Amino acid sequence: MRAVVVEHPGGPEALTLVDVPHPNAGEGEVVVEVEAVGVNPVDLGNRADPSWAGISPPYVVGYELAGLVVETGEPVWALLPVQGTTRGALAEQVAVPRQYVAPRPPELHPIVAAALPMAGCTALQVMQRMPLEAGSWVLVHGATGGVGHLLVQMARGLGLHVAAASRPDERRRLEELGVDIWLDRSGPVPAAAAARELGHDLDAVVDLVGGQLEPSLPHVRVGGHAATIVDLTGDLDLALDRNIDLHGVLMRAGRDRLYELAAEVAAGVRPHITDTYPIERIADAHRRLGAGRVGGKLVITL
Ligand SMILES: NC(=O)c1ccc[n+]([C@@H]2O[C@H](COP(=O)([O-])OP(=O)(O)OC[C@H]3O[C@@H](n4cnc5c(N)ncnc54)[C@H](OP(=O)(O)O)[C@@H]3O)[C@@H](O)[C@H]2O)c1
Repeated sequence: MRAVVVEHPGGPEALTLVDVPHPNAGEGEVVVEVEAVGVNPVDLGNRADPSWAGISPPYVVGYELAGLVVETGEPVWALLPVQGTTRGALAEQVAVPRQYVAPRPPELHPIVAAALPMAGCTALQVMQRMPLEAGSWVLVHGATGGVGHLLVQMARGLGLHVAAASRPDERRRLEELGVDIWLDRSGPVPAAAAARELGHDLDAVVDLVGGQLEPSLPHVRVGGHAATIVDLTGDLDLALDRNIDLHGVLMRAGRDRLYELAAEVAAGVRPHITDTYPIERIADAHRRLGAGRVGGKLVITL
């Protein structure tokens, strides 16, 4: 069978499609015939440098998939840990620990299902960390991205109001997702602009971009929330002075979370698939994500 193996970490050319032996299910594992694999920024990071993931070559990246259990034909989705995984999803078959696999919502096409686990479970985890009441206002930095566009839908599902900054050409898409206050991300401080428009501070800010918490904190209410999935950089002292709860979130894979994600799908949450690539063009998909302006998810088909 074929798999995309990284022997020499580096640029997209490090992704080599090679023949490898079929996997066998180890203790507590199930072998899945892969139908589609979502592409995420962490794939690019681990491809270029596996040290954060705590692995060494050879390894296969790719952490979310839709497929069929080889033994039973059951349609499933899976989300693998982004650290410590050497047999990632970019292969025709993969042996996955059962704790990371769950039945997928039957109404989802495999390409749609493969785009959800990583970004969707991350968005879910961010929302679960911030106990916000319906009617609260949250500002999302990075709302157009893989995680962001799902997080906006989940926040709206919880009855929250959402402010978001993007490029002007993404405004309409964000408003269709339910964003109440749209801001131009090239403006000086989106949080200040949102608070000005609202006439009061925000209840929460979510940073899916990096470096956005420090400038946002002055516009988050005392006792509010600030969450990041990227970094905790900058001067965050104001969080202390204003008793703002700071949440650093690293997605944790797990079957239970996939069931929670299925509930979000049942409530109407859907990913935007920007493009699909056959596995032979995996390097092009990495180049595309690395170049930015994807505005949704890229999915690899097998
Ligand atoms: N902690 C975790 O567990 C976890 C889990 C998943 C992802 N992540 C990380 O979280 C980040 C987002 O992931 P993702 O999958 O959503 O990536 P993505 O699909 O590349 O989305 C990032 C989005 O942010 C937008 N953006 C960039 N600069 C911005 C700015 N100044 N203001 C507003 N929006 C801006 C980008 O727009 P343009 O492309 O148009 O510039 C893009 O739409 C990545 O760094 C990823 O590695 C962390």
